[in-house]
Amino acid sequence: MTYHPADNRYDRMTYRRTGRSGLMLPAISLGLWHNFGHDTPHDTKRAICHAAFDHGITHFDLANNYGPPAGSAESAFGDILKTDFKDLRDELIISSKAGYHMWNGPYGEWGSRKYLIASCDQSLKRMGLDYVDIFYSHRFDPDTPLEETMGALDHIVRSGRAQYVGLSSYNSEKTREAVAILKSLGTPCLIHQPSYNILNRWVEKDGLRETLADLGVGSIAFTPLAQGILTRKYLSGIPEGSRASQGKSLDPAVITPRAIESVRALDAMATSRGQTLAQMALAWVLRGGMITTALIGASKPEQVVDCAGAIKNLDFTDAELAQIDQISSEEDVNLWARSSESV
Ligand SMILES: NC(=O)c1ccc[n+]([C@@H]2O[C@H](COP(=O)([O-])OP(=O)(O)OC[C@H]3O[C@@H](n4cnc5c(N)ncnc54)[C@H](OP(=O)(O)O)[C@@H]3O)[C@@H](O)[C@H]2O)c1
Repeated sequence: MTYHPADNRYDRMTYRRTGRSGLMLPAISLGLWHNFGHDTPHDTKRAICHAAFDHGITHFDLANNYGPPAGSAESAFGDILKTDFKDLRDELIISSKAGYHMWNGPYGEWGSRKYLIASCDQSLKRMGLDYVDIFYSHRFDPDTPLEETMGALDHIVRSGRAQYVGLSSYNSEKTREAVAILKSLGTPCLIHQPSYNILNRWVEKDGLRETLADLGVGSIAFTPLAQGILTRKYLSGIPEGSRASQGKSLDPAVITPRAIESVRALDAMATSRGQTLAQMALAWVLRGGMITTALIGASKPEQVVDCAGAIKNLDFTDAELAQIDQISSEEDVNLWARSSESV
């Protein structure tokens, strides 16, 4: 069936400036880490992308290794770009990344110039694109000089493979160093992609949001729903088909009775605010404007629609924020801690 985007799509979303750049991003962005591999029917992927774009979600986030198998999410999205999104390239912000293991041997992961440029070329080929809008160093590499990794990002922009560059999971200290190198090369850092949600607050302890504000770099928070824990999904056990049931990145062992007690308390707060729990969790990430956009994942189009509704109420009272701090103080779910360490 031919896809026609909703005419009112840009009335359904708000757009926020990315740091001190000219680029506006939707408050909610969609990531294709899960549910875009060979384990998901193509029509489901299409429906998720349609729901996103119809709700003004113009930003689609990928990486070389998304699948399974690695690379298949980019290929699937490439198919959607050729068909449903055929005439929409200039309305889309598409990102990719390199940093994690992609191919065997010494040149298939981390932060060398050899790996980053080759991986970017592979990503472009899989998606059938001339350029991506944002290309990221997916994780800090303690063994490669930052000058080399940032030099590769600079080259990727200068050679026309990407419009902007970003960093993912770098801590404040390494972010400052990397941003300074990029600035000296004449390719400003557009955006930083850290994990951040009510149950994983390392960016607050690290001071990353303040660092980014100081540097004029935007931010896109990944796993804002703690991979689904911050929804009603797990309140009565682990449902079949859910991420925690699939032996993927969400270990069911982290969904403890105590965690569920916290989620139940958050759910009651969301209800009193007239939001779903997912919407409140996204609003919390976006509160006060320090985070540019919340990067969700979805297994169904209905989830995207629910999440897009978060923008209707991004305000919290001091009492609500204090209550969330109290509820979340016992939890700390950061699977990416090692990627932000400097050694
Ligand atoms: N830079 C990095 O190192 C890094 C690492 C991880 C992720 N990311 C990026 O961040 C994106 C998002 O990560 P994520 O998928 O873990 O984010 P998330 O939004 O925290 O979790 C997404 C999951 O939550 C559930 N969900 C979403 N909306 C829902 C709703 N309205 N109601 C009920 N359940 C809902 C779905 O779970 P079910 O599948 O169980 O239905 C969905 O798959 C990725 O796609 C990727 O682009 C980046």
